[in-house]
Amino acid sequence: MRVVHSPHEVYALVDFERRNGNRVGLVPTMGALHAGHISLVQQAKLQSDIVATTIFVNPTQFGPKEDFSKYPRTLESDLEKLDSVGCDIVFVPNSEQVYAPEHSTYVEPPKVANRWEGEIRPGHYRGVTTIVLKLFMMVPAQVAFFGRKDYQQVAVIRAMVEDLNLPIQIVTCDTIREPDGLAMSSRNRYLNDSERSRALSLSRALKAANSMVEEGCHNVADIENEMTKILLNAPVDSIDYARIVDGDTLEPLSEVTSPAVAIIAARLGTTRLIDNSILC
Ligand code: PAJ
Repeated sequence: MRVVHSPHEVYALVDFERRNGNRVGLVPTMGALHAGHISLVQQAKLQSDIVATTIFVNPTQFGPKEDFSKYPRTLESDLEKLDSVGCDIVFVPNSEQVYAPEHSTYVEPPKVANRWEGEIRPGHYRGVTTIVLKLFMMVPAQVAFFGRKDYQQVAVIRAMVEDLNLPIQIVTCDTIREPDGLAMSSRNRYLNDSERSRALSLSRALKAANSMVEEGCHNVADIENEMTKILLNAPVDSIDYARIVDGDTLEPLSEVTSPAVAIIAARLGTTRLIDNSILC
């Protein structure tokens, strides 16, 4: 496994592989790797010849009151995990080479970024689209892998790829969960015992939404009320949203019609968790 810090070096490596006829798969991450991230690398191994993972805690996607400086940084164990699943290249850019002091160009995010995370975290998706486009340029892979755990993020990236005619294929991978249902997240490590057990209400609320749809309920208000009830019974400390939205546009629905997805963001103490489930 090659660990590379310079954008020019990683570009040359990936370009060389492509010239040799290899298909390169890219897995962008912010490190603090868990089984969810590793599943993306494994999926990339299945669908490409060479896998490049990037580890970069991107400052531009964190708000001023968010956890950028506190964000977990566990490079040594990240590299061990990547090596053990056969990752070929790890790009850990020097931050000055990603954002030079005079850096001032940003990508305006697409419309699908406006609601939900985009509304609650102003500037977040502008940071995500900017870094993801930069990573696509520095690591010119043919295909990139993202987790459905961040449902809106994948929708934003797919729209950017379409709108800017970027020559890269996007693959969405399933959410990996703990055995009890909690979606894996780098932020789960912040949860104390009480928060950890109350956090289970997110996946429970999503399961309940799925069951209601399976039993023939198409009334969005009824399903949203049930999700909210489960979250408040836990209780979570606050709910940012627990909604059913169009799976493509992320606009609110009043009737459950395909594609529909249930999305939740809630806080446990100071930790904010998101989760989602495709309903139909
Ligand atoms: P990060 O939160 O590190 O996540 C990296 C990738 O792992 C994302 O595509 C995310 O959706 C995926 N992922 C996280 N938890 C997962 C889980 N439980 N199951 C499956 N996949 C999971 O998302 C980011 O970083 C950043 O915004 C990034 C795209 C790297 C840009 O900075």
